Amino acid sequence: MAKKSLKKGIFITFEGPEGCGKSTHSKLAAELLRKEGFDVVHTREPGGTGVGKRIRDILLNFKNITISPLTELLLFEASRAELIREIIKPALAKKKIVISDRFNDATLVYQGYAGGVRLQEIKRIESVSIGKVKPDLTVLLDIKPEAGLKKIGIFLRDRMESKHIAFHKKVRKGYLDLARRNRRRIKVIRTKDTVDATFKDVKKEVLNVVRRYKRPG
Ligand code: TMP
Repeated sequence: MAKKSLKKGIFITFEGPEGCGKSTHSKLAAELLRKEGFDVVHTREPGGTGVGKRIRDILLNFKNITISPLTELLLFEASRAELIREIIKPALAKKKIVISDRFNDATLVYQGYAGGVRLQEIKRIESVSIGKVKPDLTVLLDIKPEAGLKKIGIFLRDRMESKHIAFHKKVRKGYLDLARRNRRRIKVIRTKDTVDATFKDVKKEVLNVVRRYKRPG
């Protein structure tokens, strides 16, 4: 099948509290769009590049229990700068669809709303690390932190997942606040009992944004 073409590259991010299912849904969305004939790059943050994977190990490893939110912020931004340079910008320049499992909203929420770093400070650093790259659509999968963490189980949690429940409640509140401030870009989808039921809503939002930039034919 000939590839379908777009007027511009489309950048879609998936966000949400721990255990919300964004990895599953971002992969399902990538699969769906590939089946529809689009060129899709799926990536994740932190990770997605060689350097990003090493930064991810530092950030999620229990040995580094004392990392401050500011250091976390700088490491996440370093990983992001690399991902943008290596993967995101080149793919968008070729008018592909890029789907990322987390992006900068996670920093505003985890290091800002929940970690206590001032949002203005984060935005100042982001103006350098991200520049003008901005998602066209952000799918926010909303789940109560208690329910999300239960899915992960107590023994499999990493350094971030193991933070106190109060931290994770601030994460959820932060995401919902960001969504209220960015209604056009961030679409909140409440997770349902089954993946299929949730994906029905995800699919609608994803196809909507792609339709906006699709070339006729
Ligand atoms: P996950 O995306 O596989 O859940 O793991 C990434 C973890 O890192 C998750 O706990 C969220 C956290 N995180 C931040 O704290 N700040 C960020 O900027 C990003 C991208 C992730």
